[in-house]
Amino acid sequence: MKIGIANTAEIEYHFQYGGRHHVIVCLCKGVNEREIRATITSGCATEESIGHSCGAGTDCGSCLETLRELLDERRSHHAPVNSSGMLARGGRVM
Ligand code: FES
Repeated sequence: MKIGIANTAEIEYHFQYGGRHHVIVCLCKGVNEREIRATITSGCATEESIGHSCGAGTDCGSCLETLRELLDERRSHHAPVNSSGMLARGGRVM
């Protein structure tokens, strides 16, 4: 595993593992972008539901803006969410 800071203006922490490159989004909980995208793909559609699923955003809150950006990116391509904060799948609200 290799860890480094790539951008000092907007600090991003990166690590390499198994030849793949990952950006750590939530430093407090050690959750990377790939894990958060997987959580969103599995149906989490709010910062709170992501926090319940993987812990990201549940400590200092510094990563919440990035979580919102990832959610907005997903929403721009998919169906709206239900009252439980879950994305609709296949036209059905989960
Ligand atoms: S960086 Fe995510 S809660 Fe602190």
